Amino acid sequence: MKILVTGGAGYIGSHTCLELLNENYEVVVLDNLSNSFEDSLTRVKNITGKSLDFYHADLLDKEQIVKIFSENKIDAVIHFAGLKAVGESVSIPLKYFHNNITGTLNLLEVMNDFNVKNIVFSSSATVYGDPASLPIKEDFPLSATNPYGRTKLMIEEILEDLFRSDQNWNIALLRYFNPVGAHESGLIGEDPFDIPNNLVPFISKVAIGSLPELSVFGNDYNTSDGTGIRDYIHVVDLALGHIKTLPKLFTNPGVVIYNLGTGIGYSVLEMINGFKEQSGKDIPYKIVDRRPGDIAACWADPKKAKKDLNWEANKTLADMCKDTWNWQKKNPNGYRESNREN
Ligand code: NAD
Ligand code: UFG
Repeated sequence: MKILVTGGAGYIGSHTCLELLNENYEVVVLDNLSNSFEDSLTRVKNITGKSLDFYHADLLDKEQIVKIFSENKIDAVIHFAGLKAVGESVSIPLKYFHNNITGTLNLLEVMNDFNVKNIVFSSSATVYGDPASLPIKEDFPLSATNPYGRTKLMIEEILEDLFRSDQNWNIALLRYFNPVGAHESGLIGEDPFDIPNNLVPFISKVAIGSLPELSVFGNDYNTSDGTGIRDYIHVVDLALGHIKTLPKLFTNPGVVIYNLGTGIGYSVLEMINGFKEQSGKDIPYKIVDRRPGDIAACWADPKKAKKDLNWEANKTLADMCKDTWNWQKKNPNGYRESNREN
């Protein structure tokens, strides 16, 4: 079985490529490296001792997608490629709509032309907006609060319309909660290009000393300690969720939707403490105003994925913090070659 992984050089994509190779899938990666390094894939090959094919290609260039499908007999696509910075999507919405929507349309058109109609799409818990109750189930109402989230919602709707028009499509919409952590080897992990927007990469930069302190966005939420609560999921558990989804896709299920989360919520302060314990480093922080657009709390009901896919997240908060720290400390400058320690 040959799987095309768009965005495969990125954070979640590289971890998924690794698990695909471990399961003996053949892997073809399409990535324009706009937010990643090819070195992630070199390391995936080193860890697994297996090879994969990499195309430095852009989903906005349809001819490049056609070339990949002409040269490979693809059985299914896992579609990670997209821009994901919520704040940037608010200030440059057209960039997000163009890249995420047009890129996806190009991909779907080529898949249709080559009669490859199996796709797993990276959606997000952001499509639930501010949920009326917790935990969040897949049939909760959907909404978007920013252009990034709107691209996820729009792509989900495009895929559902596509299925309505042609029942030969098999589509898995995977709604990720908050991916964190890194492969236990410490060789691949999350490597934001700029100052991180997300909590765990930020904490990790503070621990290593490249950022002075963390700003905690609000301690006046209606939560156990007043700080925001999220369902953090180890990226390896998340990658394994994709591995469990593929066989389901090949049973011709039509459109299926799954939450990929742990079902457990942790507060910002609990994350800081967890990271402190695993790293042995102090994490200086100050409480600042709430970040506009943030919700108080969000965690998944992951039972549907357990029942249908026999998948559940197994890694603990300690694993998430330990593996993030292991990656950070071995790669203080991420994939940037000149400063690598290992
Ligand atoms: P990432 O930025 O590390 O990976 C995305 C990859 O897509 C990058 O390697 C980038 O170079 C590539 N890419 C972007 N636009 C492209 C284009 N036009 N053509 C080719 N390649 C392109 O992000 P990630 O955290 O690995 O996220 C993967 C997917 O999961 C994204 O769709 C993201 O929206 C979704 N998601 C992520 C999170 C999260 O918190 N990390 C949460 C929910 C959903
Ligand atoms: N937080 C801080 N300080 C920071 C960063 C975050 O206090 O410097 C807090 C936030 O207020 C929130 C929690 O830490 O309470 C988690 O914030 P993240 O930015 O790590 O994650 P979000 O839940 O805000 O957003 C993430 C992804 C989105 C995705 C969403 C739902 O970044 O792309 O999960 O899946 F849409």
